[in-house]
Amino acid sequence: MRPPDELTAEERLMDPFPWYETMRETEPVRYDESRDCWDVFRYDDVKRALSDYETFTSTGASDFDPNGNLGTLLIDENPPEHDRLRGVVEEYFQPGNLEELRPSIRSIVDDRLDRALEDGREIDVIGELTAPVTVLTISRLLGVPEDDWDLVRQWSGAMTGDEAGRDAIMEGVGKMYEYFGNLLDERRQNPESDLISVIAGSEADDEPTLSPSEQRAFCVFLFLAGHSTTTHAVGNALWTLEETGEYERLRDGELDRRTVFDEVLRYRGPVQSISGRRTAEAVELSGTEIPEGERIVSWIGSANRDPDVFDDPDQFCPDRRPNRHIAFGFGPHYCLGAPLAKLEGDIILDAVTDRVERLEVNEGPSEPVELATSYGFDRLPMTFHPHN
Ligand code: HEM
Repeated sequence: MRPPDELTAEERLMDPFPWYETMRETEPVRYDESRDCWDVFRYDDVKRALSDYETFTSTGASDFDPNGNLGTLLIDENPPEHDRLRGVVEEYFQPGNLEELRPSIRSIVDDRLDRALEDGREIDVIGELTAPVTVLTISRLLGVPEDDWDLVRQWSGAMTGDEAGRDAIMEGVGKMYEYFGNLLDERRQNPESDLISVIAGSEADDEPTLSPSEQRAFCVFLFLAGHSTTTHAVGNALWTLEETGEYERLRDGELDRRTVFDEVLRYRGPVQSISGRRTAEAVELSGTEIPEGERIVSWIGSANRDPDVFDDPDQFCPDRRPNRHIAFGFGPHYCLGAPLAKLEGDIILDAVTDRVERLEVNEGPSEPVELATSYGFDRLPMTFHPHN
């Protein structure tokens, strides 16, 4: 969905927050005729829209796959159908399981940092660090053979970009669909200990859990959902730490990495809005009546700055605790990959602080992504000064 007119001006791309504040105060729930949807800005209302699936249904309200090209996806279903799909992989995503990936993710990060620290040259933090690390991590988790990593990186590279890249996105999705179909067939015959084998094995029980086309869709969706969000989140973390001068305290062990990353997600979360809900019946939110059958856009980025919930909401507080942010959503669709994203954030910040004395955001073209759902950079040039 395209951004509201108020956010299309260049200077609003990276600073939508004053607009959110005005909207929370003056029009917390409003109908936007030009986009034919209802925008919701307050924390309690956003939480309700994301979690009360009987009133705000996900079925037929796809944000991710509006034309249904991918097939049945968990993000587009309500419980109990949603729970059937999610149940297949839920256990795999538990933090304890994922922790086993730490050494292999760390070695991917170290390899990238080796190159970035050569001669103290400029590094595009997104293109050379966070994007490759998140693509390779989700590839490893799924069980994509290492020989194919370049291939999947090319597809995912072709898939980032603006409207002009739509055809490339669909072409990339088509290729991935075919690729994962073949890999699933292979793992059905010869299961391994990876996520693709878990998904491929889900029909081996007496009662099949996922059909073959659902299995393919699941793999493609996991790959796409797990990649650009985390890429932008970690980029936003390094940018914010440099900008606020808090990097030194993190480097010196005075701040907790996970608390810092949580605050980045609240303050500059990569997903600012979710438009995958429709009203299943008429409902009142913050005194405004919304009719049945309307599309709802839930502004997570605004909810996370709501002063009714957060003290000094426009302040980056790297030791904020508790932090009730909803950057990963809320309710049944709460981000399945949240533990993985947090692990990746932790490993990258750990590796950078181990090896880098000082960060510098360079002058020159950093490229903000278009603000519809995403917030962050497609390109972020920085210099990393190594420890002596
Ligand atoms: C910082 C990084 C990330 C952020 C901010 C983020 C944010 C979100 C949000 C807001 C939702 C809820 C969508 C809704 O309610 O409609 C969601 C769902 C989801 N995310 Fe993430 N995500 C991140 C990383 C990941 C990763 C690494 C994966 C890994 C595969 C992933 C997989 C998913 C899946 C599968 C869902 C759908 C869950 C369901 O419908 O039950 N995400 N994410």
